[in-house]
Formats: sequence, C-alpha cells, structure tokens
Amino acid sequence: GVKKNIGVLPGDGIGPEVIAEAIKVLDAVCSKYGHKFTYAYGHVGAVAIDHTGNPLPDETLAICERSDAFLFGAIGDPKYDNDPKAKVRPEQGLLKLRKSLGLYANIRPVTAYDSLLHMSPLKTEKIKGVDIVVYRELTGGIYFGEKGRTEDGAFDHCTYSNYEIDRIAHLAFQSAQNRKKHVTLVDKANVLETSRLWRERVNEVAKDYPDISLECMFVDNAAMQMIQNPKQFDVILTENMFGDIISDEASVIGGSLGLLPSASVGDKTAMFEPIHGSYPQAAGKNIANPLATILSAAMMLDHLNLIDEAIEVRQAVSASLRHGMVTADLARNDGYSTDRVGDFVANYIADGEDSCSQ
Ligand code: IPM
Ligand code: MN
Repeated sequence: GVKKNIGVLPGDGIGPEVIAEAIKVLDAVCSKYGHKFTYAYGHVGAVAIDHTGNPLPDETLAICERSDAFLFGAIGDPKYDNDPKAKVRPEQGLLKLRKSLGLYANIRPVTAYDSLLHMSPLKTEKIKGVDIVVYRELTGGIYFGEKGRTEDGAFDHCTYSNYEIDRIAHLAFQSAQNRKKHVTLVDKANVLETSRLWRERVNEVAKDYPDISLECMFVDNAAMQMIQNPKQFDVILTENMFGDIISDEASVIGGSLGLLPSASVGDKTAMFEPIHGSYPQAAGKNIANPLATILSAAMMLDHLNLIDEAIEVRQAVSASLRHGMVTADLARNDGYSTDRVGDFVANYIADGEDSCSQ
C-alpha cells in the first residue's frame, strides 16, 4: 500500500456531513488496498471567520501546502450574503486558497447517468450519453484583476497572460487525447481583447496536438448549445468567469447538482470539492447528498494515481444509484439519509454486490 497526507477542509453548511461520508469511503478503500491516509483537518469559510476572524487561517493554508491532496466541503453562510458591505466573506477563503496554492485548473466532469435521465429538465434523447469535462481557468481573469470603486462607479479588470492560458490549454488537450479528441474553446472574442488572446494562444498550443480537433465558440452561443445539443461537447476549455457560469448550466444535464464533483489542480497540490454549495437549509439534518463529495474523492484517487481504487468508488456510486440507495433529491420516494448512503457505498467497496441485500 501507499502512504498519503490528505488535508480535510469541511467548511460550512452541509460540508462537514458530506465530507464525513467521503472519509468513510476512503477508509474502506484504504483497508481493502492496505493504504495509509493521514488526515489533517482545517477550518475554512464562515466557520473559520467565527473561530479566528479569517476565512483562511494560516494553519489551514499550511495543512494544504503539506498535503499530497485535500478535500474541501463547501463554504458560504446566508448571514454574509445580504450584507454588501461585509468586510470579510467566507468566499474570500476559497479564492485565496486557489490563488495561494496556484490551483489554476478547475476540472468539472458532467455525466448523464442512465438511471437518472428522468431527473433532468432536458429531454432524455438530448442528454442520453452526454459526457463533458469543463477545464475552467481558476486563478486569473476578472476574479483576480484589480477591482475597486471610483467616485461614481466601480470596476473589475480582466487580465490574462500567455503563460496562464498555455498551461491550462495543454491540460485540456491532453485530456481530450484520452477522450473523444475534441476541444471547444469558449470565449467572447468578438468583444474582449483577453478572449482574442485566448484564441491566439490556444490555436498555437493546438499545433502540439494534431490529433485533436479545436472549435472556438462564443460564450452566448455555447450557453444555448449546452441546452440545445450538449452531445456535441467533449472537452470545454474556458476562462474563469465563463467557466463558472457554463459549468453550473451544464450541471442540470446530470439531473442533480448533488452528483457533480470537481478538481482544482496546481503544480504542488490539488483540491477536490463537490460543485454544490453549503446548502444551509439542509445543514445538520442528515439529508444532503454525499455522492458529489464521494465522487470528488474518486477524482482525488485518480490524481494520486490510485486508478483501480477510483474505479471501484465510481462503481459503488453507480450501484447506489441503480439500487435507489440515494438521498431525497434523487429518490422516487423519501430517500435515505446522508450517512446511510455513505454506509452503502463504503460497504459496497468492502463486500461488493453482497452488501446490497441488507
Ligand atoms: C464555484 C463558486 C465560486 C466561484 C464562488 C463561491 C467564489 O461559484 O466554485 O464555482 O465563483 O468560483
Ligand atoms: Mn460557481
């Protein structure tokens, strides 16, 4: 077996509950394969503000820096959302984490599970077989440009360097090589200078990958195509804010936001996080869907090069969907609790199909 240092940042709302289930599943993987994961827990978000006044305390950052990889639950608390003048916000913790650790590539797979096609607001024939992965640039663009107020207004600058574009473009093309060999660059090159730079650089990077077809699409059109004909997409490559928006849009294809995992990768460490937020209305009720976090843990296993283990987690998740061992958001009736679903997935890894009879 292997030894790994795993950081764990449960965060706010339902974060701690869904993270607990992912750890349960990782424990099942470790005992089956003889691995040893050492977990270090840290506060982030509103809970960190409550404890220390800082949404990303130095101790938490240090835990992440020392980690081979880390899990992140969710951040956000309604008490900050309706206060436009709040000086500290939970979200600053996440943005600072991305920037300080150089987590520049946000990878968001969108899969239409056959057993869940009926849950999507889109027609089954449009979404059956959809398999998309979004490569969203995560440490540049309008999120991190200079921002401020003027006498009678406000501004947010959008900037990109060649280097920032090239490094994520390479990752997107490499991913396409193991997939359907198609990259769609989403931009607004008819209006924005940064988008024109993206087109120029990405066309240049594409020369290194002659087996991959590259298509460039304006973001407004891409938003429409995502609903009209999502099967045309394989790898989507895009800048920070367009990726934020298009990935939420794409999430309706899978039928539930509660199923979508993500990875945020840098050169030193990587973070794995469900796409859904802190869902404060469900916090502490043991009803939140843990599968997105469990699937994020599977992406972490892939990243740690534990490929069979990742496959096994995904098979266990598919089994829970197939057997209707799911939370209320996906259930035809009442559904099961967060920890029952986690137990099912962990037991399935330990015992296989046998565990389904109980
Ligand atoms: C996301 C979230 C974040 C973002 C927020 C919470 C800052 O929406 O991870 O997509 O906009 O990047
Ligand atoms: Mn978002």
